[in-house]
Amino acid sequence: MSSRNNKSILDLQSLEKSKIDNLFSVADAIVAGKLDFKGFGKTGALLFFEASTRTRMSFETACARLGVYPLRLDGKSSSSLEKGESQEDTILNVAAMAPAFLVVRCGDDLNLQALSEKVDSPILNAGWGKKGHPTQALLDAYTIRKHLGSCAGQKLLIVGDVRHSRVAASHFELAQKLNYEVALCGPKEFLPESGGFKVFSSLQEGLQWATVAMALRVQIERHSSLYSLADYRLSYGFTARNLLALSKQALIMHPGPINQGTEMDAEVLQDPRCQVLDQVSNGVFIRQGLIYSMLSGEL
Ligand code: CP
Repeated sequence: MSSRNNKSILDLQSLEKSKIDNLFSVADAIVAGKLDFKGFGKTGALLFFEASTRTRMSFETACARLGVYPLRLDGKSSSSLEKGESQEDTILNVAAMAPAFLVVRCGDDLNLQALSEKVDSPILNAGWGKKGHPTQALLDAYTIRKHLGSCAGQKLLIVGDVRHSRVAASHFELAQKLNYEVALCGPKEFLPESGGFKVFSSLQEGLQWATVAMALRVQIERHSSLYSLADYRLSYGFTARNLLALSKQALIMHPGPINQGTEMDAEVLQDPRCQVLDQVSNGVFIRQGLIYSMLSGEL
């Protein structure tokens, strides 16, 4: 995908590997306290038309750490969306205030690609329907690199509701760039309708193969009538018992939010292999790195 301003990040297919490597180096420098940047006087618009905790608050934290003032819009509350203004018009009007960038979370029906060609500020996809969630996949990969040394050669098993997952969609793209393998596991109702993916029908076999095991949120709102959640937990849940099949050196991940007791038990959060909260911490560094790279012309 291209865009008028050419700096928008709507997917990972169009982000060069060299830029991803550079982003990870910038994030390393931020972690090491070696990067000093203050974006005084700049604003960044955070437009969340759909619910979010981690992505929204980590972009806010990233802005605060960089000295960029965040212009926040959350859902319909207190905005002219309440009066019937469209999401597209909202974005065009906020873009007219010339923020340094626009971070947007929205549904599939909004055409972010077309919008990115109409505005001067770069648009960062913060979760776009089922199409993708690039910054989540980037922070996941950064977490894998931190704990396992490199993403190349890793085997990522994604378990659960892949069919409705924008996180999985972004990992399919990022895996091509960073040379890790992706395999899927879950009931057939949860897997992509199209073929071409490596699939394990047995969680035990998948976990034996994996160096990283990632559970996805069971989108209860879509499946509860079709599938017993208790059966799901027994067959595909990240329970202490099921995770005996995963190597001691492997990582356990989840992008959040978690349905505890369905796709992951609460006690698994205490497993030394589990990096769920480290993913969240790294999300700030990656988003800080993205904003820094964008403002300094490196992206
Ligand atoms: N992982 C993720 O996108 O979480 P939020 O929906 O809370 O932002």
